[in-house]
Amino acid sequence: MRVLITGVAGFIGSHLCERFLEEGFYVIGMDNFLTGSPDNIAHLFGNKRFHFIHYNVVNYIYIDGPVDLVVHLACPASPVDYMNHPIHTMKVDSLGTLNTLGLAKLKKSRYVFASSSEVYGSAQVHPQPEDYWGYVNPTGPRSVYDEAKRFSEALCMAYHREHGLDVRIARIFNTYGPRMRKKDGRVIPTLVEKALKHEPLPVYGDGLQTRSFCYIEDMVDGLFRLSVRENLEGEVINLGNPQEITILELAKEIIRMTNSSSDIVFLPPRPDDPRRRCPDIKKAKRLLDWSPRISLQEGLESTIKWFKGL
Ligand SMILES: NC(=O)c1ccc[n+]([C@@H]2O[C@H](COP(=O)([O-])OP(=O)(O)OC[C@H]3O[C@@H](n4cnc5c(N)ncnc54)[C@H](O)[C@@H]3O)[C@@H](O)[C@H]2O)c1
Repeated sequence: MRVLITGVAGFIGSHLCERFLEEGFYVIGMDNFLTGSPDNIAHLFGNKRFHFIHYNVVNYIYIDGPVDLVVHLACPASPVDYMNHPIHTMKVDSLGTLNTLGLAKLKKSRYVFASSSEVYGSAQVHPQPEDYWGYVNPTGPRSVYDEAKRFSEALCMAYHREHGLDVRIARIFNTYGPRMRKKDGRVIPTLVEKALKHEPLPVYGDGLQTRSFCYIEDMVDGLFRLSVRENLEGEVINLGNPQEITILELAKEIIRMTNSSSDIVFLPPRPDDPRRRCPDIKKAKRLLDWSPRISLQEGLESTIKWFKGL
């Protein structure tokens, strides 16, 4: 089985690639290193079943030979990254999605799209089930990401309905773990990095906004199951950890786990920052027989260890 993974040099892509290789797949990885790094995949270059193509998926894509599965992960994922690259973000989740869907149509491949919990925007429903349509500001600074993901989802469903393509959409909720970049702006790397340096930990607003964090190993398992199970054509499935925690509690826990002398500093709230974010994962349990197994405590331990080693 040959799988194309776009965004392979990123955080999730590199871990997912390892899993596919472990399971005996041949992986063609594609990335332009916009937010990913060759370091994340350097250890895979000796593997005969891994082939890397340095390429921007916004351009027309052709791959020689069969492709059984396309997993489209390429896209800046952290708010800092997508606000630094707003137009690129919209291109990669419109033109990039179109190009990868076109390839999947040509090769008669199965197609998995990495969508995001951001399609729910400032959700008015908690936890968020897949049939909730979301509450998104279409012109705010986060819209470049949220609306691009929504557009990509619509495009996937159009290919499914018009061409009968076997598409599956993963709505990924906050995921964390080794290989996140120190300065990618996501909350766990930011807080861990500051705590390890004994610098003040920034908390936006009152810190009572909640998030739920899924450890990378669990996320990879969910994405793998979504990719290989039969009879999931056209399904949209939330993947995330439903254990909710406030940002303030998270900051305190990270200070405790790193034995840090850092204080917490409260900063003004960020525009359109959702108050609550928590996946309803009943569908993933039913269709994928999946739920996260790694606790926040365990996941933070290995993430902190990894950041210490950098
Ligand atoms: N990590 C999360 O918590 C999370 C949550 C929701 C959704 N997602 C989605 O999962 C996917 C992967 O996220 P991540 O956390 O690994 O992000 P990441 O930034 O670490 O990885 C994205 C990868 O895509 C590559 N890329 C960007 N534009 C490209 C282009 N035009 N052509 C080729 N490669 C390109 C980057 O270089 C990078 O290696 C993204 O689609 C993201 O939206 C992630």
